[in-house]
Amino acid sequence: MEIIHGRRQMISVARALRSEESRTIGFVPTMGALHEGHLSLMRNARERSDVVVASVFVNPTQFGPREDFKAYPRDLARDSEMLATCGVDYVFAPDVEEIYPPGFSTYITVEGLTDRLEGASRPGHFRGVTTVVGILLNIVQPDFAFFGQKDAQQAIVIKHMVRDLAFTTEVVIAPIVREETGLAMSSRNSYLSPDERRAAAVLSRALSQANVAFEAGERNAARLIEIVRIAIEKEPLARIDYVSVNNAESLETLEQLNEEPALLSLAAFMGKTRLIDNVVLGKSSKGAGVNA
Ligand code: PAJ
Repeated sequence: MEIIHGRRQMISVARALRSEESRTIGFVPTMGALHEGHLSLMRNARERSDVVVASVFVNPTQFGPREDFKAYPRDLARDSEMLATCGVDYVFAPDVEEIYPPGFSTYITVEGLTDRLEGASRPGHFRGVTTVVGILLNIVQPDFAFFGQKDAQQAIVIKHMVRDLAFTTEVVIAPIVREETGLAMSSRNSYLSPDERRAAAVLSRALSQANVAFEAGERNAARLIEIVRIAIEKEPLARIDYVSVNNAESLETLEQLNEEPALLSLAAFMGKTRLIDNVVLGKSSKGAGVNA
């Protein structure tokens, strides 16, 4: 496994792999602080592509002014060890100037899809995500890029960007990896105190309860949201930011669920830590857009 820091070098390595060796490239962008959720994407990439490139880059433009950019956990040595164990061939770990050269002033904005859910709570977040992913896709030019259903809206927004801007990369979305308690794995779980971590299991439990109601025939979005809210409000350490039911592809807000898959998603604070989670309702009846 080789670690590459410079954008020029990454571009020429990727170009050589594509043209001289005509090998397919699978790419997994991350911000590091890796866990099993990230590694599942690496394994997915390993299965589907000849060469696996992972990036580790804590992207400043997707953090709000009061968010945790400075505090975000960084440990490239540990991350590299983990990446080596799942057959990653190249790690692209650029400094900020390699991605954003001095005078940088070009951003990608996906309109509409980004004004709600995470976009409403975190203004500018998706502009930062789509900009960095656009840059990374241009540098690596992979055949496949892998993203997690954990960040459902991010996955939808990136798919949309890739289509609109005619990137040739195929976007692959992989399922959420959870801890035994059901807590969705996240780099931010490391901020949780032991009590908060135990309490955080309420989020996935609440979504499961709503899913059970959905399976039993409940199609009213307000009632499904209420099930989630009541479950979470029983946990004193949790504070809800939003709970929402949206079309799983267009993210249109739903009042009544129909035959199309619906995304039931939430954000909640456990102490100072903001966590997100989601479930796709009605996925089995018709492959969910976000779970292809
Ligand atoms: P990061 O939070 O490091 O996540 C990298 C990828 O891992 C994302 O596609 C995310 O959805 C996926 N992932 C995280 N936790 C997961 C879990 N429990 N199960 C499955 N997949 C999981 O998302 C980002 O970084 C950034 O926004 C990035 C796309 C790299 C752009 O900066």
